[in-house]
Amino acid sequence: MVKIAPSLLSADFTNLEHEISRVQDAGADILHLDIMDGHFVPNLTFGMPIIRQIKSVAKIPVDVHLMVTNPQNYLEILGDWKIDYVSFHQETVFHLHRQVHVLKEKNVKAGIALNPATPVETIYDLIPDLDFVLIMSVNPGFGGQKFLTLVYEKIRKLRKIADEKNPALLIEVDGGINNTIAPKLIKAGTDIVVAGSYIFGQNDYQKQIQSLRQ
Ligand code: DX5
Ligand code: ZN
Repeated sequence: MVKIAPSLLSADFTNLEHEISRVQDAGADILHLDIMDGHFVPNLTFGMPIIRQIKSVAKIPVDVHLMVTNPQNYLEILGDWKIDYVSFHQETVFHLHRQVHVLKEKNVKAGIALNPATPVETIYDLIPDLDFVLIMSVNPGFGGQKFLTLVYEKIRKLRKIADEKNPALLIEVDGGINNTIAPKLIKAGTDIVVAGSYIFGQNDYQKQIQSLRQ
């Protein structure tokens, strides 16, 4: 069963707790938090104190997507706060294996995120160590961008590698997803669908979330 993870990037930040309870009541499975540093991506969002406060009010698992150049500075503390899923980008870290195990030692579900131009083969040897892979279907930095169809092939390729090396691996896809794209992603082997503007851009969050599951 696919999990739907609303990205709070498109939520009303002046009413964050209300937005979180609205998506939870609407059937969201996971809260996706986009952390941007103005270096790895050309945008800034929010940081550690807000992540901590969101975790303290969330009733569903929290998924932190680190789009930052030095993710290793934040992994242990996110583990101490019992964040459920954490991903950082392949493009940002030299010692991926070491950082993945920092998360695993804290019992955090560990994920590597891949930019659209980064092949899945770059993490081939790490697949057995990972809980999930986050495949970006836009260039990270902004909500509301156009979905890149090149990811379908990446998902199929990754699913095939995972079937051999780590059948429990979850595939998360993030960026530009709506209700016509989601079924194709699910068919290709996606386990977690992230959606920001598609959910928060409308009044009826339940309807939007349900339409992604169909
Ligand atoms: C992009 C972020 C995404 C984004 C998704 O850098 O990682 O999570 O918020 O938003 P939509 O669904 O609007 O593309
Ligand atoms: Zn994201």
